[in-house]
Amino acid sequence: MKILVTGANGFLGYYLCNALLTRGYLVVATGRGDCRLPYLGRPGFSYVSMDLVDHDQTRTVVHQIAPDFIFHAAAIGKPDDCELNKELATKINTAGSALLLALAAKSVTPFCYISTDFVFDGKAGNYVEEDLVNPVNHYGFTKAQAEKLVTMYAGDWSIVRTVLVYGRPMTGRSNLLSIVQEKLSRGQTYAVVDDQIRTPTYVEDLVNGLLLILEKRATGIYHLSGEEVLTPYQMAVETANYLVLDPTLLIRTTSAAFKQPAIRPLITGLDINKSKRELGFKPRRFAAGLQATFCTH
Ligand SMILES: NC(=O)c1ccc[n+]([C@@H]2O[C@H](COP(=O)([O-])OP(=O)(O)OC[C@H]3O[C@@H](n4cnc5c(N)ncnc54)[C@H](OP(=O)(O)O)[C@@H]3O)[C@@H](O)[C@H]2O)c1
Repeated sequence: MKILVTGANGFLGYYLCNALLTRGYLVVATGRGDCRLPYLGRPGFSYVSMDLVDHDQTRTVVHQIAPDFIFHAAAIGKPDDCELNKELATKINTAGSALLLALAAKSVTPFCYISTDFVFDGKAGNYVEEDLVNPVNHYGFTKAQAEKLVTMYAGDWSIVRTVLVYGRPMTGRSNLLSIVQEKLSRGQTYAVVDDQIRTPTYVEDLVNGLLLILEKRATGIYHLSGEEVLTPYQMAVETANYLVLDPTLLIRTTSAAFKQPAIRPLITGLDINKSKRELGFKPRRFAAGLQATFCTH
């Protein structure tokens, strides 16, 4: 079975491609520019450049690959980048998804879209799959718009919403834990908000959930995140303590005091009961995620 992964050079892409290859799938990884994954030469792996803003290239690549399943993870995933480059963010996150869906529709290829808790406004928290989306920043808006397009797809579709993904960044973006390690080990201070509520997700748990969706042919919306409710500051303190770094270098702050280009939804966190019940999804505790992040592979 041939799986096309978009955003394969990214943080999630690295782990997703590895897990798919380990399970014996043929993986066609796609991304902007050259391959940054260490899997070239591994049986079943190939890489093709595919920039979603280049419609001709994307059309040719999807047509030539003729995949049996698509994981669409490519996005501008940093909210501040989206807020500062709204046009480009819309082009990639929404129009890019629309293009991919239109190409997939030609062969009704099953389509799994990776989305975010940031589609919600952060007023209620503990969101279930049916809750109404109401994004408060442009990133959330582009992802919510893409979700809407996915729900209109004629083939089998799934939307996976996840939250503050952490783990060892092998490629792609850094994350809260890796930044805490980097800053504190250099003796630098790091300001972290303590009034945003999240259910942080260990990257390999997210990948396990995506495999369950693939293997059970699950369709619809699924929330795949951790289950523990934590603030970024709490996560940072636990990380510092785990790494025996100085937690007093962490500056506890609030969303109001910590100015960022994109507003953050205050209280998110996802209810994962549907995924536990229907998929058998079992995320680990944050302490175990910390251990997995920093263990030497
Ligand atoms: N990380 C989180 O905390 C989190 C939380 C909720 C949802 N998500 C979602 O999870 C997905 C994966 O995110 P991630 O954490 O792996 O982020 P990431 O490391 O930034 O990966 C995203 C990938 O998308 C690629 N991309 C951007 N524009 C593209 C384009 N025009 N054409 C093709 N590829 C393009 C990026 O390429 P370059 O590497 O070349 O820039 C990057 O490799 C995203 O859809 C994100 O919205 C992530």
